[in-house]
Amino acid sequence: MSTIDLNEISGLPLKLKNGKLVFGAGMKKVVPEGRIHVRMKAVLKNPTAKAPKEFYDMYRDIALEKDRKTILHNKLRFDITVLPGFKVGDEYNKTFGHYHPKVPGTNTWYPEVYEVLHGRALYLLTNHNEFLVYDARPGDKCLMLPGFAHVTVNPGKEPLVMANWVYPGFNSNYGPIEKLRGVQWYYTEQGFVKNKKWNQAPSIQLLSAKEFPEFGFLNEPMYKTAMKNPKKFDFLSTPQRYAKEFKKYLI
Ligand SMILES: [Fe+2]
Repeated sequence: MSTIDLNEISGLPLKLKNGKLVFGAGMKKVVPEGRIHVRMKAVLKNPTAKAPKEFYDMYRDIALEKDRKTILHNKLRFDITVLPGFKVGDEYNKTFGHYHPKVPGTNTWYPEVYEVLHGRALYLLTNHNEFLVYDARPGDKCLMLPGFAHVTVNPGKEPLVMANWVYPGFNSNYGPIEKLRGVQWYYTEQGFVKNKKWNQAPSIQLLSAKEFPEFGFLNEPMYKTAMKNPKKFDFLSTPQRYAKEFKKYLI
């Protein structure tokens, strides 16, 4: 297996070696939480198809030790997820998928921002009535819009490595996705296939992975952007103050 250098793309001294993250100078090793087949069966198109035991690894709260105070003070958390490239039956490897809760006392859900570090990602977003898909490549930043469930698919053979900034003070909600065996569409070698558990499947709308200047995403690793100007990522902890900016991206 090969070694992939993630230093330039992530802004952190990281490598992917034999599918696992290797932490460089100034970082402490983070032990990942693995998502395994027995759990994923609940959302697979074909739960009885042969599959590897491990689906993906979530490395939570990654940082340069010198940045820890800044990250904590600004109510942020930086995570990296690694999804190897494989299929279960004809369906490509993916994350379980979840919703975020609302900010207490408001009518706004917590958002999140993803960045592809290696490979390719399809980010599937749905709020029941709409189904949005970002087709993202290394360096692309994609906003998980408030109120939208999100699933990440690795549609290739290469491992997908992706990062996210998120507000650390909430628990994600996996129940609605589990109840309906995933979101409305599965991504397979034939393309998108309807999930029959849903009565209705909204048509698929492609979103380009654009730059979002209002939110401070630049053409650089978003770890660096946040450490230079953490206030730019305030929208993650207090999205209720950014209704106007989010509205622009809701179709
Ligand atoms: Fe999320």
